[in-house]
Amino acid sequence: MTHYSTDLSPPINQEWPAAAATSRRGSKLLPAGNTALRRVAGLWFVVACIGQWLMVVYIATFYGSSALAGDFPRWNRLLYHGYIPGDSIGNAALAIHILLAAVITASGTLQLIPQVRARAPSFHRWNGRLYILSAFTTSTVALYLVWIRGGVGGDLSQHLAVSLNAVLILLCAAMALRYAIARDFRTHRRWALRLFLVVSGVWFFRVGLMLSFLVFQGPFGFDPITFQGPFLTFLAFAQTLLPLAILELYLRTQDRASASSHIAMAAGLFVLTLAMGAGVAGAAMGMWLPTIKVAFDPRTSIAATLTTTIASGGADAAIRQYRDLKTAAPAAYNFDENELDSLGYHLIHVGQFDNAIRIFQLNTEAYPQSGNVYDSLGEAYMDDGDRPQAIANYRKSLQLNPKNRNAVRMLQKLEAP
Ligand code: HEM
Repeated sequence: MTHYSTDLSPPINQEWPAAAATSRRGSKLLPAGNTALRRVAGLWFVVACIGQWLMVVYIATFYGSSALAGDFPRWNRLLYHGYIPGDSIGNAALAIHILLAAVITASGTLQLIPQVRARAPSFHRWNGRLYILSAFTTSTVALYLVWIRGGVGGDLSQHLAVSLNAVLILLCAAMALRYAIARDFRTHRRWALRLFLVVSGVWFFRVGLMLSFLVFQGPFGFDPITFQGPFLTFLAFAQTLLPLAILELYLRTQDRASASSHIAMAAGLFVLTLAMGAGVAGAAMGMWLPTIKVAFDPRTSIAATLTTTIASGGADAAIRQYRDLKTAAPAAYNFDENELDSLGYHLIHVGQFDNAIRIFQLNTEAYPQSGNVYDSLGEAYMDDGDRPQAIANYRKSLQLNPKNRNAVRMLQKLEAP
């Protein structure tokens, strides 16, 4: 086994009788094509593992640490329809879903590492049971969250797409279990790989979204406020169907004794791995690492402090508190730029445009040289329907950061007759 080898790519003579026979007949290129394919599949798996573990650490540090502190309302900084006081069943379902999201993501990657399976078969069996049980539970609970608890972000097309994801998780989990019990390990392996990909659907969604942000330098094909639009509908279905289609192609390629198709598949998978790696890097920088960093920051989050004050005393009281704390205890609180930025976006998402504008204005006072804070203020004015102010702030953002392609696009939209 190569150092990259994973369950995605078992050794040639074990699983591919046709390929092995041809290789014995003397095709020299086939073993090379097969090795290339195995190595690229291994590389794909390593990149996927890095990205998935970052998401696990993100879930544990943000949701886990606030739950341990009993601070469930803090979840609402990231969720559209998160913790709701009094909704004990809905809150419990959400907590179970998020807890199992971390368990299933971690356990899925461990399940596919062949060295773990070879050296610790009983761990593989127990982890497999945990994985399949979590898959059943989390997708059933997720269907409850979407269709019964309701209030979830996105539109009907996205709700249907994630529900398809949930149904396919249930199906693949049932099939993987069935063939494991029947001791048909070749078929079991195929269903387990499908299960891994469908369980990774929401992860693929985040990676694809951040890849699109990198490519288009901002939101593309959807409205960032309502989180709706054709690109998100496409991505919501693609998160499940595209990886499954590529896996089927990969499995069929493995079954064929053709060196050229092995090499073509390896090349295609390599390009997809590069794209996925870029998306993972984008998601790490834009979503997971900032949240993880905040969780390990010994300073108190000023955004969390102001969220409570806005709810109890309004934006004026929060702005006064910000200024007082910055003078009295500058080292005890986290006054980084992204604190007020993320608070402002949270206020936009809950429809409090006036408060969002006040918070972004405060950020422009604190960081007058940042193109990003003016871009956010421009967006809040745009969402509030104040076109002249939106234009003025996007222009200011562009002046400070001429590379801001989002500001260029927004100005084209706002200045169109
Ligand atoms: C099994 C794989 C899944 C994983 C790993 C997963 C992971 C997550 C995570 C981490 C969150 C918290 C939001 C965030 O911080 O990004 C979340 C929330 C949520 N998930 Fe999932 N999820 C999975 C499957 C699903 C499915 C199949 C559905 C729908 C049928 C679903 C519906 C939801 C809903 C409704 C929320 C709350 C969203 C909100 O109110 O903003 N999840 N999930």
